Amino acid sequence: MTTIAILRERAAGETRVAATPETVGKLAKLGATVRVEAGAGQSASIRDADFADAGAAVGDLSGTVNGADIVLGVAAPEPALLDGAKPGAIVAAICDPFGRRDNVDALAQAGYEVLAMEFMPRITRAQSMDVLSSQSNLAGYKAVLACADNFGRAFPMMMTAAGTIPAARAFVMGVGVAGLQAIATAKRLGAQVSATDVRSATREQIESLGAKPIFVDKVEGIEGEGSGGYATEMSDEYKAAQADLVSSHIARQDIVITTALIPGRAAPRLITDEQIATMKNGSVIFDLAVAQGGNVEGSVPDTTVERHGVKIIGYANTPAHLPADASALLARNFYNFLSAFWDEEKGAPVLDEEIGDAIRLTHSGKVVHDRLSS
Ligand code: NAI
Repeated sequence: MTTIAILRERAAGETRVAATPETVGKLAKLGATVRVEAGAGQSASIRDADFADAGAAVGDLSGTVNGADIVLGVAAPEPALLDGAKPGAIVAAICDPFGRRDNVDALAQAGYEVLAMEFMPRITRAQSMDVLSSQSNLAGYKAVLACADNFGRAFPMMMTAAGTIPAARAFVMGVGVAGLQAIATAKRLGAQVSATDVRSATREQIESLGAKPIFVDKVEGIEGEGSGGYATEMSDEYKAAQADLVSSHIARQDIVITTALIPGRAAPRLITDEQIATMKNGSVIFDLAVAQGGNVEGSVPDTTVERHGVKIIGYANTPAHLPADASALLARNFYNFLSAFWDEEKGAPVLDEEIGDAIRLTHSGKVVHDRLSS
């Protein structure tokens, strides 16, 4: 029988867990034995007893890992935590392969089959397995709430007997999954919202949420869409035009949320210190890319930086600020992935080429992913 192990996360500030009682029950229905390390769900408001009631065996680390065929983690565990797992066991997690390359190498050497969930291809059938989407959506929501909390004014227009409070102006830079949710959340709170992206396909999406698109449009080669719907690095001409546009727009904003990422590279710089200096006193910027190098000059993970009277915020791990929902969605991503490929006879997932090649980092002691070859 296949044994799936769920570990307690060790990284500082990590509050999520890779399974919930709901997915433990579903994994058991596939025919797997599920073991959960004691305390794994504590910071996501899931008690050991809840996991046990769902059918998991709850125990210490060695008891959980011993003989495991599959280990699920939010972050990829270090090999030292996996002592006793089956040789060649599958380790599926958010691996951060560029930031934590050493750990990928160490897991390869130890013979594990490492699957990077964040490399899931952007194809329709893999949407329900996509950890980046599920977590970015929550991050976009939380970023707006953090701004509202740090802003000394209200978001909606309010007409009161003592006078009228104007609506806050919010600008979202980068309209992927996080940006769309940020637009929707800021609208719900009553802000006047505008947004920009390098991918022109987002213009309609911005409009459909009732926000105003702000686009660079007199520059050659403005289409910034690369493969798989991801953004590409833009030309210098584009970057200069974008900087001009942003400079004139940003000076009138109260709230700015930046979400721009380019896979495998440092986040693009979208806002300079000079531009921050043009913003109104008391404005708030949330840099959702702060952990990838930051879109905003001067942003520091988990620190409120004040520059020119503007607060700059950014969490090292934004989804970890909504541990229960982030875990629930992540756990479903893992379950959807395993169940889609479950081979009843083998009692294990058997990946097809398209998804297997996209997410498999290591095999038979070697790093095999083409994005990691060098
Ligand atoms: P992301 O997290 O890679 O980047 C965030 C946003 O920043 C993107 O919209 C990107 O175009 C934008 N950006 C990059 N550089 C920029 C710059 N210099 N200035 C302004 N904006 C910049 O993107 P995310 O959220 O992962 O989504 C990208 C696309 O992929 C979306 O269209 C999304 O709907 C699609 N997608 C499809 C999936 C599927 O079919 N399974 C799953 C996830 C996303």
